[in-house]
Amino acid sequence: MLGIGLIGTGFMGKAHAFAYRAALAAFPDIPASRLEIIADVDDVIAAKAAHQYGFARSTSSWQSLVRDPAVDVVSITTPNTFHREMVLAAIAAGKHVHCEKPLSPSLADSKVMVEAAERSGLVTQVGFNYIKNPLLKLARDMVSAGELGDITGFRGIHAEDYMHDPESPYSWRIDPVGGPGVIADLGSHIIGMARFLLGPISEVSADVRTVIKSRPVAKDAKDRKDVLVDDVARILVNFSRGCGGTIEANWIATGRKMQLGFELTGEKGSLVFTQERLNELLLYKAGGDVRTSGYVRIEAGPQHVPYGQFCVAGGHQLGFNDLKTIEMGEFLGAIATGNPSGPDFREAYEIQKVVEAAIASSKTRQWVQVK
Ligand SMILES: NC(=O)c1ccc[n+]([C@@H]2O[C@H](COP(=O)([O-])OP(=O)(O)OC[C@H]3O[C@@H](n4cnc5c(N)ncnc54)[C@H](O)[C@@H]3O)[C@@H](O)[C@H]2O)c1
Repeated sequence: MLGIGLIGTGFMGKAHAFAYRAALAAFPDIPASRLEIIADVDDVIAAKAAHQYGFARSTSSWQSLVRDPAVDVVSITTPNTFHREMVLAAIAAGKHVHCEKPLSPSLADSKVMVEAAERSGLVTQVGFNYIKNPLLKLARDMVSAGELGDITGFRGIHAEDYMHDPESPYSWRIDPVGGPGVIADLGSHIIGMARFLLGPISEVSADVRTVIKSRPVAKDAKDRKDVLVDDVARILVNFSRGCGGTIEANWIATGRKMQLGFELTGEKGSLVFTQERLNELLLYKAGGDVRTSGYVRIEAGPQHVPYGQFCVAGGHQLGFNDLKTIEMGEFLGAIATGNPSGPDFREAYEIQKVVEAAIASSKTRQWVQVK
């Protein structure tokens, strides 16, 4: 029985709590877990979350949570700026760690975290939940089996609009202490998805820009503060496998709530996916009868493992919290078997290298190698 310690009770804290609660129901072969202790900045918030999510105890001290002998696994869902300190303390206490993305505000700090994790031999995971979609596993399998022929291009995007209003106040997401802006926040998801499907990105040429130059210091405040992080990143990418592509990350894409997706073309076929319709994958196969050729809509069902762990019937659809449950199920399974499930800290670090290369390219107006 693994004791879970969860730090943070916001958007991702709730998603982690749902996922740990559901993981064993979906994946009966993973170890059972116990919701041991939950932490937030004050006792009232933490106690309320413990009651709501079913944790046995609560605390306002994340330090005591990571040291607690009944905790085996620490999940970190706090703003990016806290990740390094919390991760290193959890590893030092011998706990397996799940940390939300991005791993940390700086590449140097992330390297320290990766090295500490790898020295410890503990299992790590980072919250790239979207690639846990069984249809993306199908897409990756089709690419690697050569079913689309040689891959000729990738057009990826992660666009949302939660920062489109210039009156949206300053928050931890746009405080540069927490690292870059959208390129790390949303860009890390689509860069990770591109790597998941096609492997490493070798070089980038990017335009990374701040569009909304200032924001109110707080909700409805008259005083404004300069924005120093990016709102939009447009990146030309070349993959090590030889094909090229484009990636856009954008948090001011007015009207878009979850346009995370791609068009992937190969000599023999193409795939189209968007998280807005996460239970569908469009497949085009070249050749055949031209009168009936076109995109086929593949609908998620039990034939796409592990959809059937959630529902025996096709077409009933998985949701965001199910992807998070797959992520936690695989993470807890990896702790039991010792076989990594990923994406682990090393993969998050590789994704961050692409982010940093794109920022460097935008500053120098040059192509930059991802080393
Ligand atoms: N995987 C995804 O799809 C996804 C989606 C959103 C956010 N994220 C990531 O998750 C992390 C959190 O984002 P969020 O949207 O949940 O933020 P949030 O603001 O909704 O929640 C953050 C929580 O951390 C708590 N917190 C802050 N400092 C703390 C401290 N010192 N000790 C204990 N608790 C503390 C806050 O009180 C709050 O409950 C970020 O790294 C973000 O990039 C990932």
